[in-house]
Amino acid sequence: MIEKIELLCKEIDNLKVDNNEELENLRILFLGKKGKISLLMNDFRNIEANQKPKIGKKLNLLKTKIKNKINQLKKEFEYQNFGNNLIDLTRTAYPYRVGTRHPISIVERRICKIFSKMGFSIIKGQEIEDDWHVFSALNFTSDHPARDMQDTFFINCDNSENILLRTHTSSVQIRTMEKIKPPIRIICPGRVYRNETISARTHCFFHQIEAFYVNRNISFSNLKQILTFFVKEMFSSKTIIRMRPSFFPFTEPSAEIDINCNLCKGKGCPLCKNTGWVEILGCGMIDPKVLDNCGINSRIYSGYALGIGIERIASLKYQVEDIRFFSKNDTRFLRQFEATI
Ligand code: DAH
Repeated sequence: MIEKIELLCKEIDNLKVDNNEELENLRILFLGKKGKISLLMNDFRNIEANQKPKIGKKLNLLKTKIKNKINQLKKEFEYQNFGNNLIDLTRTAYPYRVGTRHPISIVERRICKIFSKMGFSIIKGQEIEDDWHVFSALNFTSDHPARDMQDTFFINCDNSENILLRTHTSSVQIRTMEKIKPPIRIICPGRVYRNETISARTHCFFHQIEAFYVNRNISFSNLKQILTFFVKEMFSSKTIIRMRPSFFPFTEPSAEIDINCNLCKGKGCPLCKNTGWVEILGCGMIDPKVLDNCGINSRIYSGYALGIGIERIASLKYQVEDIRFFSKNDTRFLRQFEATI
């Protein structure tokens, strides 16, 4: 009897199950009415009385052992199953918040799309530039105030003031015209830097889109035509433009473009400073000297160029009064913009 009990003890120690069914079979095998423990209990009745206390104790221990073992196996088994159930592949996914696109990116993409429709290709250009591409080739005289330390971030490489952060995307005009022969129809979106005090209207970095077209017989009326198309696509079909004479070193003639204020519809409001018009960009016919600087014969070719401030367009479109919002990374502000892909 004692041998049988000890053998069963060893058997119990080595028990393993893989599923519920095996566990139940095990329970029946040991604890069922005709199970191994019951059989031993039957045998127990027949043993001598003086042996009973000793063997009875062992038998009880055996019974507890198998019960504990079955419970333990059950727990292990349930735990494994619970682990598996954590991943319920049939469950509907938790809704998770999709990020929104930054308003500057939305406007940049929109502008690029409108110009792409008109046959313009996109070139990104570089942010670290040299004096030639940002100033000299664009006809800035050596004493032009824009070259001043007050405006430009110079990068002090071997003490030369030649390397700088571009102050405008017009530099991409030069880089492109040096490389590609006309016809050239390009837009260049990107970040620009100026050493300005940060305020509601100015920042030390912002974004521009340069657009230019060089070919034979390009005239001011071509420029006017694409500008008219652009503002109607960007704002509304009712938007009209006004051209004001202006000056840029690299264009002649030059103009600044206003649109009728879309907030007050021309009646006058703080946005348009009661004029009914808001300025959106600068433009003009590329100065022949600039073409020649890039190896393009200005007697054969002409071109127009324009520079759009993306923050300016975004401020008008979304009525943002303080451009610092665009770089604050305040999610309460950013979350308001559409989550376009
Ligand atoms: N580069 C000018 C600026 O940063 C913007 C500009 C004006 C670009 C007139 C042009 C242009 O191409 O024709 O203020």
